[in-house]
Amino acid sequence: MSTPLLQVKDLGLSLPDMAHKSLFAPAPMKRIFRNISFELQAGSSLGVIGESGSGKSTLARALTLIMPPQEGELLFRGESVLGFNEQQRIHYRSQLQMIFQDPMSSLNPRRRISDTIAQPLQVMGRELNASYRRDKVMQLLQRVGLDTKLASRYPHQLSGGQRQRVGIARALALQPVALIADEVTSGLDVSAQARIVALLEALRREEGLALIFISHDLSLVRSLCDEVLILRQGEVMEQGAAAQIFSQPRHAYTRDLMDAIALPEPDASWLERGHSPLGN
Ligand SMILES: Nc1ncnc2c1ncn2[C@@H]1O[C@H](COP(=O)(O)OP(=O)(O)O)[C@@H](O)[C@H]1O
Ligand SMILES: [Mg+2]
Repeated sequence: MSTPLLQVKDLGLSLPDMAHKSLFAPAPMKRIFRNISFELQAGSSLGVIGESGSGKSTLARALTLIMPPQEGELLFRGESVLGFNEQQRIHYRSQLQMIFQDPMSSLNPRRRISDTIAQPLQVMGRELNASYRRDKVMQLLQRVGLDTKLASRYPHQLSGGQRQRVGIARALALQPVALIADEVTSGLDVSAQARIVALLEALRREEGLALIFISHDLSLVRSLCDEVLILRQGEVMEQGAAAQIFSQPRHAYTRDLMDAIALPEPDASWLERGHSPLGN
């Protein structure tokens, strides 16, 4: 077995709890999550499920060092990330790219799509010349299934699904080895959701990208992920192979989550017969 891309061991993170801060003392620390362990192999996919406030987004921020964790270990290809120097951290962060829930708020409204996609190249000093940059943007647009004509448009001129693809194209600009997708299908209609999931699956299959897919949509996680981790109030309730957990959830909390969200069997033939999942 090769060294995993990521090894997470007993990761924990606390943040100042502003809700309980008194005027004269520093805010007490609040445990956001604790004892989180998992491995992510190159090209594999992990689903992170949990109700709102369970710590999913904070975990994503910890993995990408936006909020460095205080406890536990984080290894990237066997090396301790928390011991990385500045240059190694920058490289690590370029390899593990995040895609956010709401592309409208993560895309600059005054920046053309082409500039948004090229921005990471510029930031990393990889903006060689204008024609290289243009080719690269066109290539990335095509990779995520967008018409290259959209390059000169602004975010508000695109649909929600198209904007999410721009977010993915931007994340791909630095050729990462893993993507962390945080609720990226929320707010999209069912068919746009299915197309985003198909794109992520294609990136995984064709380019070997590993994927951490954070969602409260169990049917999407089931269709996309090999492994699943169920979080509740910052603690792991259950984790393991997706097939196992979806067919035989061990924990009552997991069963409740599944009951709360009806799980439609994916039925591709119904879609292929020309039905729209929206019923229109
Ligand atoms: N910057 C922050 N400072 C203090 N508490 C935070 C911060 N960000 C999130 N939290 C708290 O951490 C918990 C988990 O939040 P979050 O990671 O956003 O959960 P999820 O993504 O699962 O909805 C929540 O109780 C939230 O209030
Ligand atoms: Mg969140």
